[in-house]
Amino acid sequence: MTPPRAAPCVLVTGGLGYIGSHTVVALAGHGYRVVVVDDLSNSSIDVLAPVEALCGTSVATYCGDVRDREFLATVLGRNPVACAVHFAGLKAVGDSVRMPLEYYDVNVNGTLTLARALEAAGVRRVVFSSSATVYGDPAVAPTPETHPLAPANPYGRSKRDAEELLADLCASDPRWGAISLRYFNPAGAHPSGTIGERPQGVPNNLVPYIAQVANGERPALRVFGDDYPTPDGTGVRDYVHVMDLASAHVAAVARMLSRPGNEVINLGSGRGYSVLEVIRAYEHANDVRVPYEIVPRRSGDVPRYLADATLAGQLLDWRATRGIDEMCRDAARFQRMHVQRAPRPARTPASSPNRALSPAS
Ligand code: NAD
Ligand code: UD1
Repeated sequence: MTPPRAAPCVLVTGGLGYIGSHTVVALAGHGYRVVVVDDLSNSSIDVLAPVEALCGTSVATYCGDVRDREFLATVLGRNPVACAVHFAGLKAVGDSVRMPLEYYDVNVNGTLTLARALEAAGVRRVVFSSSATVYGDPAVAPTPETHPLAPANPYGRSKRDAEELLADLCASDPRWGAISLRYFNPAGAHPSGTIGERPQGVPNNLVPYIAQVANGERPALRVFGDDYPTPDGTGVRDYVHVMDLASAHVAAVARMLSRPGNEVINLGSGRGYSVLEVIRAYEHANDVRVPYEIVPRRSGDVPRYLADATLAGQLLDWRATRGIDEMCRDAARFQRMHVQRAPRPARTPASSPNRALSPAS
C-alpha cells in the first residue's frame, strides 16, 4: 500500500460519488495526487469542500462525462495520470430495467471511451468498480471469483460486459493492466460524518433507508420478505464498510502500478447479516428504534450474497476490518449531519478561480 517515492497521479472518475469520494480521501492520505472527473449526475459539487478538507489539499476536479472522449483527452493532457479508478456509472437495478440503453451507454460505452482515451494517452492501468450482482443468484456462498456469471438485470449485465471489455484489452496488449473489484454491499460513511451516501429520492438500499427511518424522515422500513431459506427468513448480505472499500482501492492502485495483467477480485467480509440483524445492529449502535413491517419479497432479490474474499487477502493484502456496528454508527452520524445542514444546492457547479470545472476552463 506504500506509494512510490514520487507519488503518481490517479484519475478518479465518479470521484464525487459515494465510494469515489471516500477513495479520493484515502488515495490522498497515501500521498497520491488525485484528479477527479464527475458529471454530477448523481452527486453534487458541494461534496468537494469536505473531500478537500479531509484530504488537506485541493483536488483538481473536472466536470464532464466519461463518454466524452475529447473531454477525457483534455484532462489526460493536463495531468500526468499513471492509473485510473473508474467509479463513474449508473447503479440502480430498477432504472436499468426501465432504461437499458442508458445503462449500457454509461456503464459499457463509458468504460470503452475511457479505455480509448487512456490508450491514446499511454495510460494503460485501470481499477474498475464492478459488483457482486454479476453472479446473479449464486449457487455457492461464500462465492469465489471463479463462480459462473449470470447477472439477472441490465445493470448487472453492463458490469459484466465492462469487465469483459477490460479483460479482452489486457489479453490483446501485455502493457495493459486492469483490476475489476466486485463489491458486495457497501455501507457506512467517513467517521467525520462529512461525506457519505446521499441517495436521491427514496433509497433503494437497506442501510440508507434504515438511516432515514431512524432519523424520523420516514415512518417505517419495509422488510422485503421473511420467507427466504435463511436463519430468520430475511435476506442475508455481506456488508462492507466504505472506508474498507476505499483502502482496497488504494491497494489495487499500488498493485496496478507495479504490474500489468487482468484480475478480478471480490470485496466483502465473508460474514453475512440478515435484514433483521442489520435493524438490531443499527438500533443497538445508535440507541434508536427502527420501526419496520414485513412486506412481500422485492422482485429480483436473492436470498443470500456472501463474498469469498480470500483472493483480496492474497493479492491486495486486504481484509474488511470494520464491522456492522461501525457501519451503522457512521451511517447514522452522516445522516444526522446531512439532515441538519441546509438542503442540497441545485446541481450547478460552484465557480472557483483556481479550480478547473470544465475542460474549457
Ligand atoms: P454514486 O452514484 O454515488 O457515484 C457515481 C458517480 O459517478 C457520481 O458522482 C456520478 O455523478 C458520477 N457519474 C455517473 N455517470 C457519469 C458519467 N457518465 N460521467 C462522469 N461521471 C458520472 O455510486 P457509488 O455507490 O459511489 O458507486 C460507484 C461505482 O461502484 C458505480 O459504478 C457502481 O455501479 C459501483 N457499485 C456500487 C455499489 C453500491 O452499492 N454503492 C455496489 C456495487 C458496485
Ligand atoms: C442491490 C441491488 C444490487 C446492487 C446493490 C448495491 C437489487 C435487486 N440488487 O443489492 O444489484 O449491486 O443493491 O447497490 O436491487 N431490503 C429491505 N428493505 C429495503 C431495502 C432492502 O428489506 O427497503 C433488503 C433486501 O431485500 C435485501 C437487503 O435488504 O435482502 C439488502 O438490500 P439492498 O441494500 O438493496 O442490496 P441488494 O439487494 O443486495
